[in-house]
Amino acid sequence: MSNPSLLILPGDGIGPEVMAEVRKVIDWYGANRDLTFDVSEDLVGGAAYDAHGTPLHDDTMAKAQEVDAVLLGAVGGPKYDVLDFSVKPERGLLRLRKEMDLFSNLRPAQCFDALADFSSLKKDVVAGLDIMIVRELTSGIYFGEPRGIFEEGNERVGINTQRYTESEIARVARSAFELARKRGNKVCSMEKANVMESGILWRDVVTEIHQAEYADVELSHMYADAGAMQLCRWPKQFDVIVTDNLFGDLLSDAAAMLTGSLGMLPSASLGAPMANGRPKALYEPVHGSAPDIAGQGKANPIACVLSFAMALRYSFDQGAEADRLEAAVEKVLADGARTADLLGEEGASAISTSQMGDAIVAALTASL
Ligand code: NAD
Ligand code: IPM
Ligand code: MN
Repeated sequence: MSNPSLLILPGDGIGPEVMAEVRKVIDWYGANRDLTFDVSEDLVGGAAYDAHGTPLHDDTMAKAQEVDAVLLGAVGGPKYDVLDFSVKPERGLLRLRKEMDLFSNLRPAQCFDALADFSSLKKDVVAGLDIMIVRELTSGIYFGEPRGIFEEGNERVGINTQRYTESEIARVARSAFELARKRGNKVCSMEKANVMESGILWRDVVTEIHQAEYADVELSHMYADAGAMQLCRWPKQFDVIVTDNLFGDLLSDAAAMLTGSLGMLPSASLGAPMANGRPKALYEPVHGSAPDIAGQGKANPIACVLSFAMALRYSFDQGAEADRLEAAVEKVLADGARTADLLGEEGASAISTSQMGDAIVAALTASL
């Protein structure tokens, strides 16, 4: 049997810095757990634009379709803000999501005990938190037509369209219900059915799928604005949250701060199963390229490392090894290792990106 294949796209800003630490973890699995990946690396985002004049080369897109899983760092940066919209770094990422049809974006927010004091919320509100946001990722206002900036009379008008079909809602709802069955068996669906037709359809379809196929799972509905408030007030009321592309983008950044830092939150973007039974998959941290700290060795690599743990779990059936990696991260944090983002303003005893990676690898070795 050939080794599972991984395409690594480090991207821009802190992307290459955090990905270098994930490479250490991947190498550790090859050397210690007989788990060797065929790793190839390529460009995405601004890095691809600099080399090819496009944020995602067709050859890279084709490779992404062939491998067992893609691991992405981050894209974007101020240098590229002036580019035409069609070649902005973010378009490279959106093309990957769309063409791989990665409709189900899992964004877990777990609060490690060692960080409960660091959250901007009170400790008892976040301690032990373990929720999963399932964000629809291939449709909605991110992709709906018409879109553009048009002339209307003597001024311009900017237009984006929120559009969801029943089948798009149904498939992401199913993935949320399936996940809930393996967790706390609760799903809360969020939309704005009070002001948006697409929200009314969303609520209808989620309710139909629930009644027909998942009546054993507890389902509730919330308007997304109230959901944002409840996430800050008492996040532990949730198990799985399912929501659309734009609300999911906002709610998952908010959820990230419950865990202490955006540098902690991983994600998995999953599509339909491929011929080998594995889902089409891309794994990436929720955070971006963090231009304000790029190149300084300050970035927290944990979100990217935990994204690789999700790859072990969801692409490679290595749940026990994913547990091992998550436990290694937990141990390192419990031992007091902190990158600057986990220390607040003082930043006194911060360790570097690569020191954090080394500590995680050492904890993996200690787990043997
Ligand atoms: P960002 O996530 O890059 O940064 C927000 C804040 O969080 C910054 O202060 C940053 O320093 C901090 N931060 C983020 N990740 C961190 C980490 N691992 N360790 C320590 N601190 C971390 O979001 P932004 O500033 O709004 O966006 C910057 C660029 O990244 C933009 O071009 C944006 O489009 C892009 N972006 C890309 C992705 C992606 O590739 N998936 C996601 C979000 C934003
Ligand atoms: C994310 C990011 C992306 C999004 C951008 C970079 C396209 O914010 O993954 O959360 O808006 O989906
Ligand atoms: Mn986002």
